[in-house]
Amino acid sequence: MRIGFLQLRSKFGETKQNVKKAVSLLNRVSDATVVLPELFNTGYLFKNRQELVSLAERVPEGYTTSELKKIAKKKNLNLVFGIAQKSGKKFYNSAVYLSSKGKIEVYQKVHLFDREKLFFNAGKSLKVISTPEAKLGMLICFDWIMPEVSRVLTLKGAQILVHPANLVLPWGQAAMKTRCVENGVFGVTANRIGTERRGTLNLTFTGGSQVIGPRGESLVFAGDRSESLKVVEINVEEADNKNITSTNHILNDRFPTLYTPLIRKGRSKK
Ligand code: ACM
Repeated sequence: MRIGFLQLRSKFGETKQNVKKAVSLLNRVSDATVVLPELFNTGYLFKNRQELVSLAERVPEGYTTSELKKIAKKKNLNLVFGIAQKSGKKFYNSAVYLSSKGKIEVYQKVHLFDREKLFFNAGKSLKVISTPEAKLGMLICFDWIMPEVSRVLTLKGAQILVHPANLVLPWGQAAMKTRCVENGVFGVTANRIGTERRGTLNLTFTGGSQVIGPRGESLVFAGDRSESLKVVEINVEEADNKNITSTNHILNDRFPTLYTPLIRKGRSKK
């Protein structure tokens, strides 16, 4: 299958402009699965909840999903994109999977980063999406910090970790390589670039979008300066080989009964 990322510089609050630019870049590619950054349509640094309320969209009827549906169909693309989602009376930092045929699934970010906790509701489940070509394990940005997420997605059958991001800490891209190695899966991180300034708040996004192989190979990647669309051919079945050596199997070598502190919150007393 062909899979890649669209690394973007979004402008806060300019949804139409951000979506139009993404669509015009996506016009250059066809027959592929492409991952876009977290919150690519709205920008990231909400000053207050009111801004989130006014920019969040419902899925599938909102502007962003409707526009991307057209380009997905026209160019035979499956897209994964980050969006501020309004669902009932709640607001989620979500990743939408939209197939070329119009199938839609949504993952709501579980591990909220910093000020996101002020405005967003946390998602309550981890998600693997079965597509005709591969099983996609969904993460959004800071979900990378919990290795349990990628492991559980792998145990649920994920072959590719799909990772819309607005990475600001310098370790996320390297950590995603480790997530791929320790789980024997592919990974696609689609990050932002540029600095967002909102009054006294500002953040710089670190680019470095990448497609990683199951042994940590860097299959294709972007720098931190420019918008970038890159797609690479992968053999997704490589993610089904969990043998690191002839006697070591990533999943079968585990001793889950030793890992019971994982099911409690906080640090174990012993
Ligand atoms: C992040 O989770 N957007 C850093």
